[in-house]
Amino acid sequence: MSKLDNIVSLCKRRGFIFPGSDVYGGMAGTWDFGPLGVTVKKKIMDEWWKFFVEDREDIYGVDAAIIMNPRTWVASGHTATFADPLVECKECKSRFRADKITEGFSESITTEEFLNTHTKCPNCGKENWGPIRKFNMMFVTHVGAVLPDDDKEIAEKNIAYLRPETAQGIFTNFKNVVDAFYPDVPFGIAQQGKAFRNEISPRDFILRDRECSQMEIEYFVNPKTWEENFEKMRALQHDFLEGVLGLPAKNLHELDVPAADRAHYSKRTIDFMFDYPNGEGELMGLAYRTDFDLGNIARESGKSMEYRDKVTGETFTPHVIEPSIGVERLFLAVLATAYTEEGKGDDKRVILKLPENLAPFKYCVSPLLKNKPELVKKAKEVYKKLRKKYNNVTWDDSGNIGKRYKKQDEIGTPKCVVIDFDTLEDNTVTVRDRDTTKQTRVDIAKL
Ligand code: GAP
Repeated sequence: MSKLDNIVSLCKRRGFIFPGSDVYGGMAGTWDFGPLGVTVKKKIMDEWWKFFVEDREDIYGVDAAIIMNPRTWVASGHTATFADPLVECKECKSRFRADKITEGFSESITTEEFLNTHTKCPNCGKENWGPIRKFNMMFVTHVGAVLPDDDKEIAEKNIAYLRPETAQGIFTNFKNVVDAFYPDVPFGIAQQGKAFRNEISPRDFILRDRECSQMEIEYFVNPKTWEENFEKMRALQHDFLEGVLGLPAKNLHELDVPAADRAHYSKRTIDFMFDYPNGEGELMGLAYRTDFDLGNIARESGKSMEYRDKVTGETFTPHVIEPSIGVERLFLAVLATAYTEEGKGDDKRVILKLPENLAPFKYCVSPLLKNKPELVKKAKEVYKKLRKKYNNVTWDDSGNIGKRYKKQDEIGTPKCVVIDFDTLEDNTVTVRDRDTTKQTRVDIAKL
């Protein structure tokens, strides 16, 4: 099995991630986070929020609605341009994203370029393609009392979309935040939340989903200073990814995206690429969105998005630097970094070497023997005490101690605390370290 297969299997076996709607045969491109997965996901999101919002004075948080006025997507350009190149095999009718079944092309691949590659259909092996068509990835829904037999006009009037990026919930609140808080430029607005994309080919486990979670900041700057702020944001991303989440610098690569491959709103984009187990892939993007969005909102809404500098009196529409990251991609980067195998055969040990700030539990507490009431009683006391102090402490009295260690290694618990007969005498416990397997005797009061 490949490393990715091992991670997928561990995620299901130990309750981190399950395929979405598994019991009904699944729902392509969706994933459900299980009890341990949601804990780690939340910790990643909380670390991001603390680093970029709580610990700073220049970034404000918002939590905007997922369903927005459809004019949002006209102004943002998503209605017209948020589309991927769809190609259909005329033999078996399978549909693919053209740039994903060929090498070296971006979303702007043309029919002629595609046909010249002589790509065979990944499903039936034939080479008989229709033309490339642009497929808009926004999920459409109807808001309000629309019935299936209503005429087209009524249905169209009520069309709305599930947001394809959280960013627009930030841009549309720019003026509200300015009016409520009078921030000095540069300042940012941050948001975490779900985004939806009807991907033609969801794939690579949680890397390309139809429903994902994004963490985005729109950092509003004076246009004259965009370059220095871009560099500032670029350095901050490294501080967060490497310093807070522990991703190895050697596995992170920056890709300056050429103009032809950039999103319609961007004048400069750096993609942060990560060495995932199945190869290098995009982790996050850092884009210079200029005044594209605020300018469009001003035109579409008729309301000014200008900002007046309190000191100089200069009036301008702020430009925007946007770091945007998908939580699922970050989650996989964290898991891939932590996943370790040691030893071989019966001695093989799978360890999730998660940093302590991201591990689902800080301690696992257990009695050495489950059938000795005095040990169980003391262990419960220790468990309750640690839980009160740290919250994220788990209990395990299943199987033998070796099996418990194995399970805790796989879910990334840094320390296992075992209560034995000596504990009853001297109030010390055995603390076993996940990464070294070293056991030390520690006074309970010192845990
Ligand atoms: N607001 C800008 C924006 O949405 P993007 O490059 O389309 O830009 C930003 O997406 C990030 O969101 C990506 O770098 C990735 O981490 C995440 N992302 C985008 N589409 C995704 C998908 N289908 N599945 C999982 N994550 C996705």
